[in-house]
Amino acid sequence: MADLSEKKKPVIVSGARPTGEIHIGNFAGAVSNWVALQENYRCYYFIADYHALTTHYQDTSELRDLTLGVAADYIACGSDPEKTTLFLQSSVPEHAELSLLLSMLTPVSWLERNPSYKELVKELSNLEIRTLGFLGYPCLMAADVLIYKADYVPVGEDQLPHLELSREIARRFNHLYGQLFPEPGELLTKSRVLPGTDGRKMSKSYDNVIAFADPPELVRKKVMSMVTDPARIHKTDPGHPEICSVYAMHKEFNADEWEEIGRLCRAGQIGCVNCKKICAERVARVHTPIHEERTRLLADRSHLLEILDGGSKRARAVARPVLAEARDAMKIGFTGAEENGE
Ligand code: TRP
Ligand code: SF4
Repeated sequence: MADLSEKKKPVIVSGARPTGEIHIGNFAGAVSNWVALQENYRCYYFIADYHALTTHYQDTSELRDLTLGVAADYIACGSDPEKTTLFLQSSVPEHAELSLLLSMLTPVSWLERNPSYKELVKELSNLEIRTLGFLGYPCLMAADVLIYKADYVPVGEDQLPHLELSREIARRFNHLYGQLFPEPGELLTKSRVLPGTDGRKMSKSYDNVIAFADPPELVRKKVMSMVTDPARIHKTDPGHPEICSVYAMHKEFNADEWEEIGRLCRAGQIGCVNCKKICAERVARVHTPIHEERTRLLADRSHLLEILDGGSKRARAVARPVLAEARDAMKIGFTGAEENGE
């Protein structure tokens, strides 16, 4: 139960779209940060299944499995459902209703000039995403954040334009109907980008990820097949670790030794096979326990659903009165003050 000191903690909200499995690149970038924040903030973290539909509405056959997988991944990575309110976005339909209300006052021009919108329309040209839902993505995201009157949103650089739109929407609401929503600030997470097995940024769209769903043997295989410095043919050739993705993995998962490894590589005193073996072992130290925990969680589906359900109930208890305030401010229906004859 939340005590008083709990109430004083600033509120943060974040969501993850269940469009792919969580991988060690997500862990290095965002997820480990989320986990650290739960000590000093009241955290609302959700699996953004409505948001997944904005781009992946045509084929939803994997949506439920991915949703549970992502939930298990987060818990296995250390997100503690006792400390963090962890839930499924669609189980708190207040997000959707607030999004509808906000859509009434959001000019289409704001949505169209959003750089992420323009980029994604180009990038995902194979999917028909010039839909109303996708255009309105920032409206839903604003609702996600404002429904908890969040103080901060932990985001990577790529999400900043979206967050700025959330603030603009909040400002416009407050201007039209009276002050209700604080403007959410950003908690910029140091975005450490981990290269994938092919040397490009680790990303589910490049099929180069090491996912927590991968069994340990596969992780080892993936590390052993990673691209390295192409100039190194013989083990005595001097290497360039800064362009090698194995070296980047060492930096993330083998902090104590990575400088030494860089030195040995430059001096031609370590072979790539050996270097990768060490790397695979260090990655496994982080990966294996998380993999085992997520497997255990997924084996008891009803328990996992119960955890999410508990989170949704806590989230709704906060979201419902805020939605009532928003409806009341807009003079929608006869709830809140009106109903009480005030
Ligand atoms: N837009 C985020 C992403 O693509 C996901 C998201 C949805 C989100 N709603 C949010 C993030 C609210 C922070 C707060 O990763
Ligand atoms: Fe990369 Fe290691 Fe080979 Fe150097 S020795 S190129 S760091 S794999």
